[in-house]
Amino acid sequence: MATGRPLVIAIDGPAASGKGTLAERVGERFGLAHLDTGKLYRATALGVLERGGDPANPNAAEKAARNVDFSRLADTRLLEENVARASSVVAAIPGVRIVLLEAQRRFARHPPPLGSGPAKGAVLDGRDIGTVVCPDADVKLFVTASPESRAWRRAKELRQDDAAAIYEAVLQDMRERDARDSQRRVAPLAAAPDAVTIDTTSLDADQAFELACDLIARHCAGR
Ligand code: C5P
Repeated sequence: MATGRPLVIAIDGPAASGKGTLAERVGERFGLAHLDTGKLYRATALGVLERGGDPANPNAAEKAARNVDFSRLADTRLLEENVARASSVVAAIPGVRIVLLEAQRRFARHPPPLGSGPAKGAVLDGRDIGTVVCPDADVKLFVTASPESRAWRRAKELRQDDAAAIYEAVLQDMRERDARDSQRRVAPLAAAPDAVTIDTTSLDADQAFELACDLIARHCAGR
């Protein structure tokens, strides 16, 4: 039964768990606008770094958060590892999270149109979507995997020809970022009590996608 209210899907999880790809595919399948909320923190970090500032400085980081431009989230510099590291530093600053929270909620409430027409809703992926940004989301997924398999995936993305050469460094970086994200005082990385966990350690992207689609389709049928 359709309600006319936008469908909201929350997908959380640690770095390189597969949540981004999953969110993108879920968006395509169900006609939802997709927001990778990590990009907002990355854009904030990049804004600080570009001005030669310190990502741990609340004034600099909050100013950069206010200047985040949603139309420039495809900038490939956001994918750089130094930006990833700095993003988890700015993300621990409460003022930064307050600035970005409203923008994320607006996206969920009023999803932008898709190329093909109006969106039926929104899918947001991040660390605190199900717990803080959209606690009333229709479906909440928590996508996770062992640190080793996430580090291996990320190493292969960064260096296809010789992932083994950088695996240890990537694993170390990932452990540090996981610790900062899960231990920060405000909105730490956590599964919402009503989230369904999908562990991708031994699932491939297609299996995780089918599982997610099943859950969402069942929810929609009862709406
Ligand atoms: O997902 P991604 O690796 O791009 O996120 C970059 C950083 O942004 C994370 O390490 C985390 O510190 C922060 N983040 C967050 N809350 C979100 C999304 C990302 O704190 N909802």
